[in-house]
Amino acid sequence: MSTLLSGLTQISEIHADNIPPSQISIAGWLRTKRGSKKFSFLEINDGTCTKSLQVIVDANISNYSDIEKLTTGCSVKITGNLVLSPGKGQKYELQATAVSIYGFADPETYPLQKKEMTYEYLRDNAHMRVRTSTYSSVFRIRSRISFAIHQFFTQRGFCYVHTPLLTTADGEGAGESFKVTNFDLEKVPKTKEGKVDFTQDFFEEPTMLCVTGQLEGELLAMGLNRIYTFGPTFRAENSNTSRHLAEFWMVEPEFAFADLEDNMQLAQDMIRFVVADVLENCHDDLDVCIQKTQLDTREYLRLALEKPFIRVSYTEAIEILKSCGKNFEHPVYWGCDLKSEHERYLCEEHFKSPTIVFNYPEELKAFYMYLNDDGKTVRAMDVLMPGIGEVVGGSQREDRENILIERMKAKGINTEHMDFYVSLRRFGSVPHAGFGLGLERLIMWVTGMNNIRDVIPFPRTPGNCKY
Ligand code: 4AD
Ligand code: MG
Repeated sequence: MSTLLSGLTQISEIHADNIPPSQISIAGWLRTKRGSKKFSFLEINDGTCTKSLQVIVDANISNYSDIEKLTTGCSVKITGNLVLSPGKGQKYELQATAVSIYGFADPETYPLQKKEMTYEYLRDNAHMRVRTSTYSSVFRIRSRISFAIHQFFTQRGFCYVHTPLLTTADGEGAGESFKVTNFDLEKVPKTKEGKVDFTQDFFEEPTMLCVTGQLEGELLAMGLNRIYTFGPTFRAENSNTSRHLAEFWMVEPEFAFADLEDNMQLAQDMIRFVVADVLENCHDDLDVCIQKTQLDTREYLRLALEKPFIRVSYTEAIEILKSCGKNFEHPVYWGCDLKSEHERYLCEEHFKSPTIVFNYPEELKAFYMYLNDDGKTVRAMDVLMPGIGEVVGGSQREDRENILIERMKAKGINTEHMDFYVSLRRFGSVPHAGFGLGLERLIMWVTGMNNIRDVIPFPRTPGNCKY
């Protein structure tokens, strides 16, 4: 039996049949109330599970006049007898002996309404939306997925490391990082040549928020063997889409003595581990999502456990796209970047399965990916999910110093500045690989929510950094 220090029982424990009929106290927020002069029925939700607990308050209770004033959103503590409910629709009910009120919620201004509210409205009220059943379910699933990810990597002997958020290296070389400065922006110091004088800034050189923890992850894997990071990541790409955030969470494993094949296997195993865990442990929360989205996620989640993910090389994928007879908005040719419409066609219509595309053209991918013997492709992989597109991006890493330097130069990356990274290829270099999983995209796929802003409590997107 789990009770809080304050002696409160969690409603999830009651519905899990862990609490024998007895005298207990609960605390939570009022979802609905109906009643009469003689008694009131309160539906109390404490956020620990989808279900509320029905509370019956008899009019004999000393503060019944206060109970009559309760409206949706009020917070209360209730002590009473937990009994098997004679009524239909619930197994247990609480017969109140004492009710105390923490806080009223003015019904005139309470932002949540009984009627169906749009996602947009709720995003504008992100400080309150966690009180709705959909969002509380999504955020509980998010918590469970995070826990399952830690469990998966721990079981496989990966060491959880913390890579820095402040960095001087643009790890993806894509120039999409947020700048970090301590300058008074009204009086930015300039050099004689009129350029910003970063030597006077806090870190004495241009600094940014990390776009990945990979580079430091690689350094740590070269001693700890298998590591993973799991933290926030920042990208200033101006993509106002339903799949992009300026701040998102990424899981990045990196492992030594591994190649692309191992990497694909690890990504598939990790996703399936998470799926199995959610199917087993988030039953009610999944039901809430399914009811809200009208998408039977459970069906495709189960399918993902039954069949291995499809693996297709970029070159084969291009052939499929060229010969499928579909008119894509962006032209398809060997060397073209796979756009969302192409990715989705492959996994949603052609394969109807999670799909891993590997061996991309060298020009399309970051400098650190292993160059294949053909000299044209690198050992990259993207895991694509039906309904979402790319969820994982990763690669075997270039572990040969000369080739790495060549590729960095070709992409205009300052090799001196990144010598710490290059030097690993000089001091006991080994084949290694890793990937980045976008946590929010995985949550979208698992819950069926179709906007990334609805799976993170406080989304940051262009023009929006509220709360
Ligand atoms: O493919 P990306 O850019 O890969 C990397 O950053 C590598 N350094 C990872 C690694 O190998 N260690 O990003 C990885 C994943 C994408 O597949 C996507 O799921 C997610 O991160 N992602 C985003 N999610 C939300 N909003 C954005 N703006 C995202 N950009 C990438
Ligand atoms: Mg990518």
